[in-house]
Amino acid sequence: MYSFNNDYSEGAHPKILEAITRTNLDQNSGYGTDGHCTRAGEMIRREIGREDADVHFIVGGTQTNLITIGTALKPWQAVICVAQGHINVHETGAIEATGHKVLAMPGKDGKLTPADIIQALDHHTDEHMVQPKMVYISNSTEIGTQYSKAELEAIHSLCLSKDLYLFLDGARLGSALTSPVNDLTIKDIAALTDVFYIGGTKAGALFGEALIISNPDLKPDFRFMMKQRGALLAKGWLLGIQFEELFTDNLYYDLASHANSMADILRKGIIDCGYSFYSASLTNQLFPIFPDHVIEKLEKEFVFSLQEKRADGHSAIRLVTSWATREDACRNFLSILKNCSL
Ligand SMILES: Cc1ncc(COP(=O)(O)O)c(C=O)c1O
Repeated sequence: MYSFNNDYSEGAHPKILEAITRTNLDQNSGYGTDGHCTRAGEMIRREIGREDADVHFIVGGTQTNLITIGTALKPWQAVICVAQGHINVHETGAIEATGHKVLAMPGKDGKLTPADIIQALDHHTDEHMVQPKMVYISNSTEIGTQYSKAELEAIHSLCLSKDLYLFLDGARLGSALTSPVNDLTIKDIAALTDVFYIGGTKAGALFGEALIISNPDLKPDFRFMMKQRGALLAKGWLLGIQFEELFTDNLYYDLASHANSMADILRKGIIDCGYSFYSASLTNQLFPIFPDHVIEKLEKEFVFSLQEKRADGHSAIRLVTSWATREDACRNFLSILKNCSL
């Protein structure tokens, strides 16, 4: 069985493993105070064009989201996100467990719109309700769509005018930035957000997310919250080493491009077979709609997840490609799809 279930089914790119092996017997100071984390932070600051930013390395996405939101907000404040947003659907109430309500808005194509934000503000008018103070978006989104520069600028300027923090979850940022329709740079992302992260876990690292805080109001005492939430990794240099490698010789972007080009092969082949998609994704997550009998046959050879079951005998499934996805596996998927579609 070949898995298109997610982009963290494989370990890590060999360059990362080699760097960990090469430095294995070196002694480092703990909790991210080592030379690797310092160098990786400098590399990221250079890459994003923000020498003033704070960079923190955290093991996983949920932890990054809850620590960032939990640190930024006062006890009565809330975070606005699109209904399909990861913090709203897939984090087991982790944000709410920090005491902050998630205000889920409908959005469009998996993306939050300025109209959603205005509506959330209009519905929360006084101290008998939570006070929206942060906007959370992810790029790419839960359904593989991505924000254009104009869309991000519109959200950014609304956040500025309404005194809201803008937080971008970049668990799959590499895939968004290397998509053929992308018009955002990582420098734009850094300039247009208060805080964002560059995902490593889904981008060829063993694990790890690099959180970048640009807004000075969000910087103080961040490491205290990390420690209290169990996120200050004793062997923190393992995170630093991985991001040093990802930001050497374009590796981060090359691996994301590979995932996107494998998705592109699948997308084109699926279109050639006459099928449509649940979302217009040009990133590494695809949501084709197949008849259920075709899905049953594909399930015998491949691992993937069900996105949406429909009443008409069709369902949308989710296929995810990764930095390590093999082209022959994509071709094999398409040839089996073709055969069972006859
Ligand atoms: C957009 C997004 N954010 C955050 C996460 C959470 O990451 P983790 O599973 O490492 O907690 C995921 C995981 O799938 C994700 O897709």
